[in-house]
Amino acid sequence: MSSPTDHPALELVDLRKTYATGVEALKGVSLRVEPGDFFALLGPNGAGKSTTIGIVSSLVNASAGEVRVHGVDLLRERSTAMRMVGLVPQEINFNLFEKPFDILVNYAGFYGVPRDQAIVRAGEELERAQLSDKAHTMSRTLSGGMKRRLMIARALMTRPRLLILDEPTAGVDIEIRRAMWRQLREINAAGTTVILTTHYLEEAESLCRNLAIIDHGRIIQHGSMRSLLAQLDVEAFVLDIEGRLPPALPAIEGAALVAADDHTLELEMPRSMDLNRVFAGLDAAGIRVRSMRTKANRLEELFVRMTGRGAAEAAA
Ligand SMILES: Nc1ncnc2c1ncn2[C@@H]1O[C@H](COP(=O)(O)OP(=O)(O)OP(=O)(O)O)[C@@H](O)[C@H]1O
Ligand SMILES: [Mg+2]
Repeated sequence: MSSPTDHPALELVDLRKTYATGVEALKGVSLRVEPGDFFALLGPNGAGKSTTIGIVSSLVNASAGEVRVHGVDLLRERSTAMRMVGLVPQEINFNLFEKPFDILVNYAGFYGVPRDQAIVRAGEELERAQLSDKAHTMSRTLSGGMKRRLMIARALMTRPRLLILDEPTAGVDIEIRRAMWRQLREINAAGTTVILTTHYLEEAESLCRNLAIIDHGRIIQHGSMRSLLAQLDVEAFVLDIEGRLPPALPAIEGAALVAADDHTLELEMPRSMDLNRVFAGLDAAGIRVRSMRTKANRLEELFVRMTGRGAAEAAA
């Protein structure tokens, strides 16, 4: 016997979307996100992330496939399914001439939350978003980071079981981003399933337990962050070179050397390879290594490997 709690928070089965322009944005996307998970949906520009999120939040109609939110079929029981989903879109889309408190109360009202209850919740959500002192100021005057926190607070007004955020920290500075991470971790720890898209792979690596990578409308990876990172059988290092690099780099079998600038080398090699061979090759070419460090952001490497594109490029 299955009870409602046995269902995944989100289940996509062979989801397809062809836009009126003929663009095949999704070519059969299947995905499972368990209740309580913190899940990242990653992929380069145009991969189909926003289309997927648009379908789940009923902003876009799927051409084919199934969507279930906690076992409830989105196409057959749209309003029941939708009541469980909170969406934080990428663009700020509240009225800048309204006050945060009113934005929250009116939003909840729109989704059928009784006014008394909405007022209590607005107080709670403003507090959680650290916006209590801004409750009655014109939201136009909020900083960019405050506006983003307000968007999250608004999505939480309906107490969604599944919170979906499309690039929640795009363009915010590192301090605000960290504050938002704390806010999202708290929300997740309180039992809400969180799905986010991000171009900051460091963000996904730090927050998310599971992830899927989508590319050209297809899921190319789906699993736990840990097992994906463990798959990386290639190590990457950054080497600081004494003096300047020669114009031609030595060829070292099995390893890839790239000059990042005229005194920095980037090295990629299989884990099993002997570093001494690399050093011998460099030495023979008259290149002396002053120091070396592991190249940061392993998820980024994985991403580049799988999609053939870097996050910086994907975000551009
Ligand atoms: N309304 C639309 N009409 C026609 N084509 C669209 C529409 N929205 C998206 N597309 C196309 O569908 C594909 C997937 O776009 P989507 O916005 O889902 O990508 P994404 O992964 O969110 O990219 P990004 O990282 O740039 O936000 C792209 O080729 C895009 O041009
Ligand atoms: Mg998008």
